[in-house]
Amino acid sequence: MDKIFLIGFMGSGKTYWGQKWAHKYGVDFFDIDELIEATQHKSIVKLFEQYGEHYFREIETAVLQNLSTKTNCIVACGGGTACFNDNMQWMNENGLTVYLKATAQYLQSRVINEADKRPLIKNFSSNELLFFIEKKLKEREPFYNQSKIILPVNVITDEYIPGFINLQPK
Ligand code: S3P
Repeated sequence: MDKIFLIGFMGSGKTYWGQKWAHKYGVDFFDIDELIEATQHKSIVKLFEQYGEHYFREIETAVLQNLSTKTNCIVACGGGTACFNDNMQWMNENGLTVYLKATAQYLQSRVINEADKRPLIKNFSSNELLFFIEKKLKEREPFYNQSKIILPVNVITDEYIPGFINLQPK
């Protein structure tokens, strides 16, 4: 398996741990959100505002599938990547999927101060945010749970050794 896809809700640590592990194991790292912003020359907030979510999801799928030629890398998905356009199936056919699983309370605490960067949760109070996360997580878990590995975020620390990373160093 030469690509690892990190999947999970906003705030689950996909980018944070993906970057750390890629560095530690000497492999490439790609972040779907960053690639979308770079190819579109616009922030994700602006893309949602100007073109809407449907357009964003099309670009997201195109950016994801563009990674098919990459090898030996860790890919941090956006929180919704797994849930649209059969992306979950595509990722399972093209790499190893790892779901960073967290509770709604944990996720709320992680995104509450960064909500303005995330169009789906931009205007919520703290209670509304928790309610939204609980609801969305229920909708999304059937997709996330199709991951080959389910990794609870509370077991991950700097010392944690992800045994599923079996990539060739650069
Ligand atoms: C989204 C999550 C975001 C980003 C966009 C939509 C979602 O990524 O792709 O705001 O639908 O959950 P992060 O999970 O990296 O915040």
